[in-house]
Amino acid sequence: MSNENSIKVWDLFVRIFHISLLASVVVAYAGEEGSMWHIYAGYTVLGLIILRVLWGIVGSKYACFSNFIYSPGTVINYLKGLRNKKPKHYIGHNPAAGVMVITLLVTLFAVTISGLKVYAIEEGRGPLAENKLAVISSAYADSDHNKLTYSKDHDDNELWEEIHEASAHFLLFLIFLHILGVTVSSKLHNENLVKAMITGNKEN
Ligand code: HEM
Ligand code: HEM
Repeated sequence: MSNENSIKVWDLFVRIFHISLLASVVVAYAGEEGSMWHIYAGYTVLGLIILRVLWGIVGSKYACFSNFIYSPGTVINYLKGLRNKKPKHYIGHNPAAGVMVITLLVTLFAVTISGLKVYAIEEGRGPLAENKLAVISSAYADSDHNKLTYSKDHDDNELWEEIHEASAHFLLFLIFLHILGVTVSSKLHNENLVKAMITGNKEN
């Protein structure tokens, strides 16, 4: 329930986006690699971040990128404030949270696109799979050509697998920092940021 002192910060889209993103990332990690659970959770993540980017342009005040992208100097000042235990208060994402949101979105994009590439090369499926006709016609080509195609695909696959794995590990590290940041900021600002992400409201 909102009262006189509370201010609406996170709109319904942002709140549903956050909980759905959290759930799909958990399912992607929990589901066996390459399984349908993993693939569909990954697709959901990609869909969610595309919608979030659009919402960052046309969405409500505090959801807009322009509201939480600050200059490096402002971010550094905020971090210094955290160290001195007197950080400046912001209603929307604070400057450090803004950097985290963008880094999370970019990393999630790298994880899902590299996942789609692995899926395309290994299984020949998904939106990034090569034209099926090209695959069939290459089956008729001479065997030397086939060997070349095979080893190129093999190298490509290794590369995209490496990217997928490394970006997924980096994502875990970011999630750890994100939760740490939320905990520290909540404590220093004496406000419950998790509750705000659920109800949408912050006490003023
Ligand atoms: C946030 C989303 C995702 C996360 C966190 C994630 C994470 C991971 C991780 C940790 C692995 C194991 C890597 C290894 O040790 O080799 C993996 C493997 C895999 N992922 Fe994802 N993934 C995501 C999205 C996707 C998507 C969208 C696809 C494809 C549509 C995909 C396809 C695959 C495949 C095919 C493998 C098996 C790779 C292999 O053969 O080694 N993933 N993923
Ligand atoms: C898979 C794990 C998670 C991912 C990928 C993730 C990602 C994100 C993203 C992208 C945002 C920006 C929201 C927006 O403006 O649209 C955000 C905000 C937020 N997240 Fe998470 N999150 C995760 C887990 C969690 C958990 C477990 C918590 C609880 C401790 C949490 C608490 C928050 C809070 C409180 C905010 C708002 C921060 C602020 O007030 O500036 N997140 N998260």
